[in-house]
Amino acid sequence: MKLHQIAFYFTLFLCARYSQGAAIDDETEELEGYYWRHYTDHVPKDALPGGKDMKGETTYIGQALYRSILIPGQFIVGDRKLYFEWGDAERVTSDNIKILCTKHPEQFEWIRTTTEAVGNIPDKNFILGGFESDFTVYIGRVAIDNTLAIGKVIFSTHESSSVGFHTTCRQNASFVRAQEFEVLNYEPKIPPPAKMEEKAKGGAMFTSKIDAFCFGLMISVILFLTH
Ligand SMILES: *[C@@H]1O[C@H](CO)[C@@H](O)[C@H](O)[C@H]1NC(C)=O
Repeated sequence: MKLHQIAFYFTLFLCARYSQGAAIDDETEELEGYYWRHYTDHVPKDALPGGKDMKGETTYIGQALYRSILIPGQFIVGDRKLYFEWGDAERVTSDNIKILCTKHPEQFEWIRTTTEAVGNIPDKNFILGGFESDFTVYIGRVAIDNTLAIGKVIFSTHESSSVGFHTTCRQNASFVRAQEFEVLNYEPKIPPPAKMEEKAKGGAMFTSKIDAFCFGLMISVILFLTH
């Protein structure tokens, strides 16, 4: 086998490899990088950490069905309960809880904002946290005493001026409305740390054992054919 033939097969191999890689990349871009998992006895390993409870333990972003409304709130691991606000009161449930999960926690950002400014954040992609007719419900959080309480940011779909952050204070189990809070935004363009490393290496050829195996196999075939 001549050198130009080897070069041809090698190029063919590289083309096949990289077109396959490109197809996979396109596919993942179309999917949202988060999902709600049903809570059963333990918090899923890929749950997105959200806040802190009174003991300083991490809390998670939960969602419950309450009076035909989906409401986001804080899941407290030690209590195995979801606490959320509705009708100016703290509500609690230990049933039918969903937890927000992701494989890419780095693609989420908590944007510090206020009731007045939240509607004007450019390029926002806030996470929809629930469903309530006449409202759009996002996820927010605020520091209350020594906790970081997860709650809901609601926008009225009728009057654009009606925006509010609602949560509850665990210390006294009463509702809280805050003018300054953080809202949860999803930014899929933020590259995962592993990918950044890969790029920094200048496109290392062997990204996995399978790549190395294919390359080795190809070399063996070429050597076999040339003898
Ligand atoms: C509950 O505690 C919070 C935080 O300390 C406070 O802002 C709120 O006024 C309290 N509510 C009641 C009803 O005591």
